[in-house]
Amino acid sequence: MEILYIEGGKKLNGEVGIATAKNSLLPIMAGSIISGKKVIIDKVAKFSDVMQMSKILESLGVIVEFENDTMIIDSSDCNKYAIKEEYTKKVRSSIFMLGPMLSRFGKARVAYPGGCNIGNRPIDLHIKGLKSLNVKIEERHGYIYCDGRNMKGGEVHLDFPSVGATENLMMASVKIKGVTTIHNCAREPEIVDLQSFLNSMGAKVYGAGSSTIYVEGVDSFCDTEYTPMKDRIIAGTYMIACAMCGGEISLSGGKKEHNQAVINKLINLGVHINESKGYIEIKSSGRLKNIPLIETQPYPGFPTDLQNQILAMQTIGRGTSVINENLFESRFKICNELNKMGADITLKDRMAIIKGVSRLYGANVTASDLRCGAGLVLAGLVADGYTTIQDVYHIDRGYLSIEEDFCKLGAEIKRLNK
Ligand code: UD1
Repeated sequence: MEILYIEGGKKLNGEVGIATAKNSLLPIMAGSIISGKKVIIDKVAKFSDVMQMSKILESLGVIVEFENDTMIIDSSDCNKYAIKEEYTKKVRSSIFMLGPMLSRFGKARVAYPGGCNIGNRPIDLHIKGLKSLNVKIEERHGYIYCDGRNMKGGEVHLDFPSVGATENLMMASVKIKGVTTIHNCAREPEIVDLQSFLNSMGAKVYGAGSSTIYVEGVDSFCDTEYTPMKDRIIAGTYMIACAMCGGEISLSGGKKEHNQAVINKLINLGVHINESKGYIEIKSSGRLKNIPLIETQPYPGFPTDLQNQILAMQTIGRGTSVINENLFESRFKICNELNKMGADITLKDRMAIIKGVSRLYGANVTASDLRCGAGLVLAGLVADGYTTIQDVYHIDRGYLSIEEDFCKLGAEIKRLNK
């Protein structure tokens, strides 16, 4: 068991590079099996989720090799179209494999993510969208069986702009004859990235980044080499860290336009944020006023993946703040842990009311999920005294080595074996 051990109270100064986006890598890796051709992905960040996804590909007969940070995927002998529960339990994104497997084989079988049943586990948008493409779907023994041998394009309407469902439908449609139009799509930059990747291997996908995506079916593909975008959630986390701890940091590789929702909030509080020559520069004097209201929304709204981090910042802000979590109701688990550190947070349904306190105190806390873990690291960095964070493996799902990055920025943080 590893823990993070943080001595809080240091300002952040220095430069750190931003890793390639986990949420781009996962669907791109899934999509790599569509063509049966060679796919090379450059600058791969080996997040634990990415390594799990490569195990899923290998379980289908795909050869995945690494040369340093280059991933070489050869799916020419991929001959299976079923994903077992042991994988779907670990990486929810395994649901993205449905679309690529349908494109490649016309069939797919995936265990329910987390073993939940379809009624109360939200994969209904994926299923409904695939049914609109004339995929026959049955649920049996904890598995979703998809038969897409008679897939037809046409019009698909998503009831909600789900990122995963949009990506799944794009990947399911790339070989369907004619044009498939997907309405009410998610508009996240990772979806634009997936479109660029698919097109680099010969697909014809247009419109990503807007709420309507058009997919013109093709029947031949080519080898490709692709470099995905940088991780906007990691960049946003480090911006918030600097805003709350104070200091001056540079992030190399991030793009300001991908984080406009959080940047606008920070700038309104007096944080300086500039982009120049491939760097985002952040300068802050530390303890800020509180933001009265934050609502998480699909992109370009405020990202749910940065909600716990901004919540950690608000605990020491001046004044009171309200955060409404509109995407994932269980994303307030951090609040109990922050209250152990001296925060004053009250929860009501999907709303957190945060009364800013003058300081947090180090404590022994537990990361219950990835973003909770990131928020706790930020709280530990600003707290008086020592903080230990348990269950660090959650953080490793989406941060390559969070302690190394913050050490580069002058923080006192290390990973210890318990
Ligand atoms: C992706 C991101 C995740 C991020 C989330 C929202 C990846 C690998 N993960 O997850 O980091 O937090 O977008 O920005 O890219 N929903 C349904 N039915 C469905 C699918 C989703 O009701 O079939 C609901 C979800 O419960 C949630 C909302 O739609 O309330 C958004 O989920 P979605 O956009 O699908 O998130 P993911 O693709 O799972």
